[in-house]
This record gives sequence, structure tokens and C-alpha cells, in this order.
Amino acid sequence: MLSFLNRWYRSRHNKDGNLDFKRLPRHLAIIMDGNGRWARRKGLPRVAGHRAGVEALRDIVKACVEWKIKILTVYAFSTENWKRPREEVSALMDLLVEYLRQELPELQQEGVQVRAIGRLEALPQQAQAELARARELTASNNRLIFNVALNYGSRAELVDACRKISAWVESGKLRPGEINEETISRALYTGDLPDPDLLIRPSGEMRLSNFLLWQLAYTELWVK
Ligand code: IPE
Ligand code: IPE
Ligand code: MG
Repeated sequence: MLSFLNRWYRSRHNKDGNLDFKRLPRHLAIIMDGNGRWARRKGLPRVAGHRAGVEALRDIVKACVEWKIKILTVYAFSTENWKRPREEVSALMDLLVEYLRQELPELQQEGVQVRAIGRLEALPQQAQAELARARELTASNNRLIFNVALNYGSRAELVDACRKISAWVESGKLRPGEINEETISRALYTGDLPDPDLLIRPSGEMRLSNFLLWQLAYTELWVK
């Protein structure tokens, strides 16, 4: 994954061989897929693949800071992923907690602001608590916004946006005729963020799997 990103970045160098920051994305989105297949190829259990996925994520976050990318949004757990075997779901949740506990000092030191999008209230208490701690502690950092999508589904996000907009209308803050594309963008979980410039999906699947359907309207896609 990282070598693929590296290759992509090499194509963004100017004639003098320097990285051309103007050609780099401001907002990079990644569907973190293919963990299970990676593990199977190596004869390992799926969880080992998820562990390797977390390792790769560590390097990706570092690379984004180095490459001056401003926003990284990663799809880590979808609203559909609850249908996986219970042991896999709980291993994923444990990994999330472990990752946040271990990485927080370094994320803080590197100026990374941690955020999460999705229906977070359905996550296990411990995961919610670690996320809240990470968000509070890093809230004023501004080198990279690291946005983790957890129990995220784009359709659920659109439903929630409709509810939010209806409440604005009901309270008299907004008239129905004033609703426009900007209103919808603002009502999404990604409300204050620009749309991604580049989406990467390792694993070769040519699907969005319910990720950022509205926000990806004009995003460049890389499936590898
Ligand atoms: C992505 O890898 C991790 C999560 C969805 C949490 P997968 O577990 O989907 O791996 P594959 O797609 O089965 O290889
Ligand atoms: C997409 O991967 C979701 C995440 C990476 C969190 P999946 O493996 O869950 O998606 P499908 O099942 O291939 O569509
Ligand atoms: Mg998958």
C-alpha cells in the first residue's frame, strides 16, 4: 500500500525532481480493504491481516504529515461490517482501542488532529471513550486532520443529514426553498471539510461500498 502511494507521489515530482506540492491532494480518502486476503495469502488468520493494516496505517499517517496533506479520511469499519463473525468484530474493536492508546502520544507530537465520523454511539463504550479522549487531546492540532470512519455508512450519513436539515427547517432557521447543495454538504458528518481529491482502494475491488457517496462526486479514483 505504501509503496503504491510512493509510486503515485513520485509521479507528482516536477522537472527538478522535487515533490510538487501543488499537485498533491489536499484531502486523501482511503478504503482500507484487503486485510483478510493479504493474511490468507500468507497462511495467517484474518486478524493478522487487520493488524498489518494498522501497521500500514501508521506509516500512511506519517507520510501524509510529511507530504503536507491536510486531511486523511480512512474507512475503518462500515455499518455493514457488523455482519461479520462476532470474534472478528470484537478483534477489530480491540485493535481500534489499542491503536488509539498506543499512537496518541505520537499523533499529538506530530500535530495530528484526530476525528471520527459515523454513528459512533453504537461503538463499544471503551472505543467511544478512547475516541473522545483522542479528539479532545488533539482538537487544536492543525498539521493533518485524521478522520476515521467508524460504523460509517454513506446512506446512514445522508439519512442523518436529512434529519438535521428537517430540524433546521422546523426551528425556522431555514426555509425549504433555501436548501441547496451547500446545505447538504454542511449537514454531512464531513460538514466543514472539502471533498476528497483522491480516493485509494487497495484490494482491487471496484466498489465504493457505501463510502462518501456524495463527497466523491468528482474525486479521482485509484483502485489497486
Ligand atoms: C478491510 O479488510 C478491513 C475492514 C473491513 C475492517 P477486509 O477484512 O475486508 O479484507 P478482505 O476484503 O476480506 O480481504
Ligand atoms: C469496505 O470494505 C469497508 C471498510 C474498509 C471499512 P468491505 O470489505 O467491508 O467492503 P465489501 O464487503 O467488499 O463491499
Ligand atoms: Mg473487504
